[in-house]
Formats: sequence, C-alpha cells, structure tokens
Amino acid sequence: MIRITELAHEQVARALSSGDLAVDATAGKGRDTLFLAQQVGPGGRVYAFDIQRGALEKTASLLARHGLRERVMLINDGHEGMSKHIAEPIGAVMFNLGYLPGGDPNIVTDLETTLPALEASLRLLRPGGVITLVLYGGHARGAAEKAAVLDYCAGLEGSAYGVVQIRLLNCVGVPPELVVVKKFRKQPSGGLAEGDNC
Ligand SMILES: C[S@@+](CC[C@H](N)C(=O)[O-])C[C@H]1O[C@@H](n2cnc3c(N)ncnc32)[C@H](O)[C@@H]1O
Repeated sequence: MIRITELAHEQVARALSSGDLAVDATAGKGRDTLFLAQQVGPGGRVYAFDIQRGALEKTASLLARHGLRERVMLINDGHEGMSKHIAEPIGAVMFNLGYLPGGDPNIVTDLETTLPALEASLRLLRPGGVITLVLYGGHARGAAEKAAVLDYCAGLEGSAYGVVQIRLLNCVGVPPELVVVKKFRKQPSGGLAEGDNC
C-alpha cells in the first residue's frame, strides 16, 4: 500500500532539521501537525492553521497525548492570512486540501484562498525548504482547486524552484495526488547548491 500522505512526510523529513520552524496549513485532525512537531524537535516550532475550531481542538488533544502541545501554535484563521502570524523563514509548509474526514463536507479548501496561501508560503520558505500539497480532485471544487494548483506550480521559475507531481497510476476512482515544491539554495557565485537543479 502506498499512501500519498506518507510520501509527503518523507519529503518533509528530508528538508527539516531540528530547531526549524514549520507550518501545517490545514491542521484537520492534527496528524501532519504532530508529524511536524516531532520533526522540528524541542528547539523548533510549528504553526498550525485551521478555520474550524473543532479541528484545532482535535489537533490540540492529539498533541497533548504525545506531550508535544508546547511546540505548536494553533491558529484559528485561514491559511491565506499566514503572513500576519509568521515573520521568520520556514523549513516546510504542508497542505492537505479538501474537507475534514468525518466533518462537514461543505467546509472545504478553495482555490480562492489556497492560491494566496501558496504564494505566502513561497515567500516565507527558506532556501532548501519544501512545500507539500495533497490534492483531491474527486469532488467538484476539489477538481478546480487541483487544476489551479497544478497550473500555478507548473509556472514557477525553474531556476528558483523544483516542482514534482506524484500520481498513483493504477488506482480506481480519483486518488489523491502530491505536489512537492522545493526552494533552491543559491550559492554566492549565483549558481545552485549541489543537488538543486531542475
Ligand atoms: C483534509 S483536512 C486536513 C487533514 C489534516 N492534515 C490531518 O492530518 O488530519 C482539510 C482541513 O482544511 C481546513 N481548511 C479549509 N479551508 C481552510 C483555510 N482557508 N485555512 C485553513 N484551513 C482550512 C478544513 O477545516 C479541514 O480541517
């Protein structure tokens, strides 16, 4: 079994170091927030956004059960406003789009706010940092959001960012997809760091 969310975790784990700052742009039940809190270590910090207070409450109890509540700032605001809350460079931003499983399916991420949040994330991301986006095209707004995110990411400057799309090719239905965006590390010479290329 290949889980897209686990592939996202693998990419983020490679980019984050102990002491880093990280963002969960869609906290939901808190699984990605917990993962990020574990990755950044005791000296790091995580900002977790959700527009649903109930989602943040679930995230808070998951973190508390793991003794990691102190590492996370839970923010009851849309991710499109993340620049109001964060000023420092970020090592990773995770988006898990769509609606909260088991929650109200009408409360769903939307391209009108997802794209500004993605732009804000790119500005905050430190060189060598990554953004992951898990996209669900199986519902009407999800299909439009997925198309807009893919289009936006495909247009990112190839000398500044690496962009990868991961799709499960042999699943029935419309399986989730993963997009990973890495911000390249520029050398003082103007070239790219080893391993960073498009
Ligand atoms: C698929 S769920 C996230 C699942 C979560 N990552 C987890 O591991 O449980 C999507 C979440 O995005 C939230 N959401 C929708 N629009 C948002 C916005 N503009 N800003 C922040 N969160 C938003 C929803 O309330 C929902 O909880």
